[in-house]
Amino acid sequence: MKSETGLGFGIIGMGAIAAFHAKSINNLPRARLLAISSRNAEKARLAAAEFGADYYSNFEKMLQRDDIDVVCICTASGYHLQPALVAARAGKHVIVEKPLEISLERCDEMIAACEKAGVKLTCIFQNRFNPDFIKIKQAFTSGKLGKPVLGSAYIKWFRPQEYYDAADWRGTLAGDGGAALINQSIHTIDLLLTVMGPVRSVYGKIATRTHKIEGEDLGLAVLQFKNGALGLIEGSTSIYPGYPERLEIHGEKGTAVLEGGVITRWDIAGEKSNIKGVKNNKSGASDPLVIPIAGHMAQIDDMIDAILENRAPVVDGREGRKALQVILAIYQASKSGKEIILST
Ligand SMILES: NC(=O)c1ccc[n+]([C@@H]2O[C@H](COP(=O)([O-])OP(=O)(O)OC[C@H]3O[C@@H](n4cnc5c(N)ncnc54)[C@H](O)[C@@H]3O)[C@@H](O)[C@H]2O)c1
Repeated sequence: MKSETGLGFGIIGMGAIAAFHAKSINNLPRARLLAISSRNAEKARLAAAEFGADYYSNFEKMLQRDDIDVVCICTASGYHLQPALVAARAGKHVIVEKPLEISLERCDEMIAACEKAGVKLTCIFQNRFNPDFIKIKQAFTSGKLGKPVLGSAYIKWFRPQEYYDAADWRGTLAGDGGAALINQSIHTIDLLLTVMGPVRSVYGKIATRTHKIEGEDLGLAVLQFKNGALGLIEGSTSIYPGYPERLEIHGEKGTAVLEGGVITRWDIAGEKSNIKGVKNNKSGASDPLVIPIAGHMAQIDDMIDAILENRAPVVDGREGRKALQVILAIYQASKSGKEIILST
């Protein structure tokens, strides 16, 4: 039964990830899922029946409802901006799936529109709320790992051609903005930047090896962080059968490794490690939907706190665009064959 209290939510776009939003909202005591919209009315009707909400085939109509406070935008990545602008103008707080959009100009237009309307904006990077990741970030920030040396992100994932063929936008430049880096690897790249801090420069190379898509299915990069440490990225959707992604942080006093969302190495000088080895973990390595729902729930709950306490959400629009900026620089570096210096 629907709760009678809490913030009213609507969802725009009813594909694979939208169900994570619907389930999260239905599980959160301070949230009520009121409506779902999809350009495919039958999809919207079926989902609305499953999750106990009203349905619309026109999101603008849905956004006219006064009882909707927050909207989740779950459309294809290159189609986040338009619904976000309409939502902001209608005074709704906005939750946007990653990537925030596919160009920095489109991200900035969204951020400015939300600021102008006085509504909150968050970009879903659910892994930021993973307690094991937070432990690594705190170890780095507190100086426990010592002077930063190297931060690496390895995302050796696999998606079959059918994954790209199943939706007309996936792997396209207009709908996805690229492929493996901007869609899949972006999660771990965001974690890398959240720990290591801003990037000064990027060398990169991308390739399309095993799929018939416009975007890349393999991308490599060498980063220099502003703190002087170096970084490495290997991201792919061509590595069969797909391995849990790894974030490796090395400081002069120690190393911490997160694999598939679980700390698998914690080797810090003078500290006894109680890590027993690789545990079973849920990762999107070979199936995008085998991810835990806890991250989406935690991030939507943070957005509710941000609205009620009138503070910025943990991943606001500016935080949301950081990993995108680095990924677009990798594309540019690959195209130009040059080191790209990032603007601040
Ligand atoms: N946070 C995560 O772990 C995670 C996982 C998967 C996908 N995502 C993100 O969620 C978004 C959707 O991905 P998905 O895998 O659910 O896709 P999907 O193809 O399953 O669903 C996309 C939805 O958007 C709609 N859509 C597509 N193009 C549109 C357009 N031009 N105008 C209006 N609606 C349009 C489709 O009808 C569909 O309802 C993407 O931005 C993706 O990067 C995030």
